[in-house]
Amino acid sequence: MVIQRSRSTKDPIVEPSKTRRESEAFEQSLRPKSMSEYVGQGKVKEHLLIHMEAASKRGEALGHTLLHGPPGLGKTTLANIIATEMGSQMRITSGPAIEKPGDLASLLTNLAQGDVLFIDEIHRMRPAIEEVLYSAMEDYALDLVIGKGPTARSMRLELKPFTLIGATTKAGSISAPLRDRFVHNYKLSFYSNNEMEDIIMRSAQLLSINLDDGVAQYLSGCCRATPRIANRLVRSIRDFAQVRDESSISNDRVLHTLESLGVDERGLDETDRMILSAIVEKFGGGPVGLSTLATSIAEEMDTLEDVYEPYLIQCGFLQRTAKGRMATELTYEVLGMRVADSTDQSLFS
Ligand SMILES: Nc1ncnc2c1ncn2[C@@H]1O[C@H](COP(=O)(O)OP(=O)(O)OP(=O)(O)O)[C@@H](O)[C@H]1O
Ligand SMILES: [Mg+2]
Repeated sequence: MVIQRSRSTKDPIVEPSKTRRESEAFEQSLRPKSMSEYVGQGKVKEHLLIHMEAASKRGEALGHTLLHGPPGLGKTTLANIIATEMGSQMRITSGPAIEKPGDLASLLTNLAQGDVLFIDEIHRMRPAIEEVLYSAMEDYALDLVIGKGPTARSMRLELKPFTLIGATTKAGSISAPLRDRFVHNYKLSFYSNNEMEDIIMRSAQLLSINLDDGVAQYLSGCCRATPRIANRLVRSIRDFAQVRDESSISNDRVLHTLESLGVDERGLDETDRMILSAIVEKFGGGPVGLSTLATSIAEEMDTLEDVYEPYLIQCGFLQRTAKGRMATELTYEVLGMRVADSTDQSLFS
């Protein structure tokens, strides 16, 4: 069974998705392996540690856990840590990769007591598969229908107690019956600048990169509060420094690299600026519907909604209202415009 990836990647650094094998191997090398290495997400870690300890003391599997939040914030990393710290094996698949109930059955029947089944992009699971999963989650049993037509018969397979960890960037797209079967439901949030600084310093150390004073602090504000992007920026800056035979990373090297990647001091890239200027220039500051906005900048709706918008909204650069997306005062600031400039349709004032 192959794990499928849904998101398209244009720029491997800025767009927080991952399709390339090379990137996955790189991510793997920087992935924290224990709760103590996992930076930030204090409340989530605190609750998880309690539930994990309680489950261990009772000799039970941890309750099914749903992790949601924007791409690159550490859902897969956390799932791995949970499995490791519970002393169990983790089997990995994704919603769209499970094509038939039989695929799910073979995954589930191969799990040992307490194992973790990690389903990435769980919101993309087919409804027929989802229904099979309900009894597996609730009763540790699989109700399968064998054969077709009048000769069809149902069969119940007992499973060993396991933990399902579902990950999604779209919690709202998960059906209520599936969501209700998760015992724990955690939302990962964007990281603070201090946490990002810790992540950058940790990655630099693992990659044996020397950062000059102030570099990690500056970079922490340029990576969209997202560890995956921070790691990619660090790697990119290392490459720029390496070809110039520089033994440590200076502030100048950081500024030049960011500039050549089209990333500004807020961490916004070309697509972010296109989104914001489209709202202001083409749609008079909004409200504009998601599909119209996506078409106007030739981007996929899903990418816009899952990858770009969460950070723009978090920073107040964009507002999502019932009528559509709207510019805020900060949007004009980012674009270097005054609010009044939008009426004469001039971009950079
Ligand atoms: N809390 C953290 N502390 C340190 N590094 C982290 C943390 N969270 C994530 N990372 C780093 O960021 C990378 C991306 O994280 P991860 O793959 O877990 O994100 P994700 O939420 O699963 O993303 P996606 O939704 O795209 O699958 C990891 O390889 C890891 O190196
Ligand atoms: Mg993941």
